Amino acid sequence: MADTDIKKGLAGVVADETAISKVNPETNSLLYRGYPVQELAATQPFEAVAYLLWHGELPTEEQLAGFRAEERKHRALSPVVKDAIDRLPLDTHPMDEVRTAVSVIGAIETAGTGNVLDAVGTPEENLQRSLQLFAVLPAIVSYGQRRRRGEALVESRDDLDYAANFLWLTFGEEADPVVVDAFNRSMILYAEHSFNASTFTARVITSTLSDLYSAVVGAIGALKGPLHGGANEAVMHIFDEIGSADNVVEWLDAALAEKRKIMGFGHRVYKRGDSRVPTMKAALDTLVAHYDRPEVAELYTKLEDEFVSRKGIYPNLDYPSGPAYNLIGYDTLTFTPLFIAARITGWTAHILEQQASNALIRPLSAYNGADERHIEGYVPDTAALDVQERPEEAAG
Ligand code: CMC
Repeated sequence: MADTDIKKGLAGVVADETAISKVNPETNSLLYRGYPVQELAATQPFEAVAYLLWHGELPTEEQLAGFRAEERKHRALSPVVKDAIDRLPLDTHPMDEVRTAVSVIGAIETAGTGNVLDAVGTPEENLQRSLQLFAVLPAIVSYGQRRRRGEALVESRDDLDYAANFLWLTFGEEADPVVVDAFNRSMILYAEHSFNASTFTARVITSTLSDLYSAVVGAIGALKGPLHGGANEAVMHIFDEIGSADNVVEWLDAALAEKRKIMGFGHRVYKRGDSRVPTMKAALDTLVAHYDRPEVAELYTKLEDEFVSRKGIYPNLDYPSGPAYNLIGYDTLTFTPLFIAARITGWTAHILEQQASNALIRPLSAYNGADERHIEGYVPDTAALDVQERPEEAAG
């Protein structure tokens, strides 16, 4: 196969259709089920966006009330899951902790399904499983941070909506409405982004007729990497390294001389700026004002200006969300788990879509290894020759 046929990293490859979201780098827009994400972030609670991603329409007031009531039923961390988390070393990376917790939930929820074919579940079962994961992830993520800080588990508050309850679970106190609003916006912005690496991973796993939990566990693994979700954590490490706006030029000179990737900048699809950044930057500005931390905005702006002017590469969503989560009080290691709690909505919407119109995802490869060779002294039997002559693609 000629080199020109290979799409390294699947860049530019359209792998399937989706009705869930549309990323348009030309117009710098991102639509969830047709709605611009900025409009959703400005007007909707995260629960309504989760409903939209799964059902295709925003909920009526009555539907939202029913959805919220159901979500509240599944917020609690079960003793088995809490115990599984407690058995992990305290210095386990939180992404591994959440991945393990979801895996434990999956093992329990699919127990008794009998055989591998039944574990897949019906669309109705998988919608319910999606809602349950969406509902319990705030408790898993929050408990992880509290455990590392030597703090006890906090129980959910049924009188609080998703975002306010999430912050309650993490900090054990009611958050200011300004903070709840910024946090809610970040969740909406992180919810969905077409065939990104983790979503595609979830679709690949789903395409084999594996179960929803296995697909989510795989997606978490893909999200952990710093070229994807791990970038929001990595941005904060960079901020900590730089210290203040005064150090930006010197730090950047050295980083670029070492050919370091500057986390929080660049995107596979957007080449002229990430459509989600202005909304998240506005939320960050609100938090900077709320907490009276102008030095954070100074460092943010200085690094952005210097990097963009030198490289022409723009910030992605992880750039403003990292410092925003830091201001709210999240530990740096908890940032990417927050991304999981948001993206569970998009992942599961894609899992449901893949299941509804499935084809096994199995691309080809161009072999560039050793030419055919043989074991010295081996005499092939004629039956084995039949197998060797089958085309590579048919071999699974
Ligand atoms: N810092 C320095 N150079 C960069 C960066 C960056 N952040 N991003 C791209 N480049 C350079 C890269 O070195 C390459 O240069 P050259 O052609 O001279 O070798 C050129 O730009 C093209 O980069 P690429 O990595 O081949 O392009 P890509 O489309 O594969 O990259 C990316 C997309 C997101 C992997 C990359 O921009 C990157 O590594 N960014 C930093 C990590 C990051 O912020 N990831 C979050 C992505 S968005 C949110 C999410 O998905 O979670």
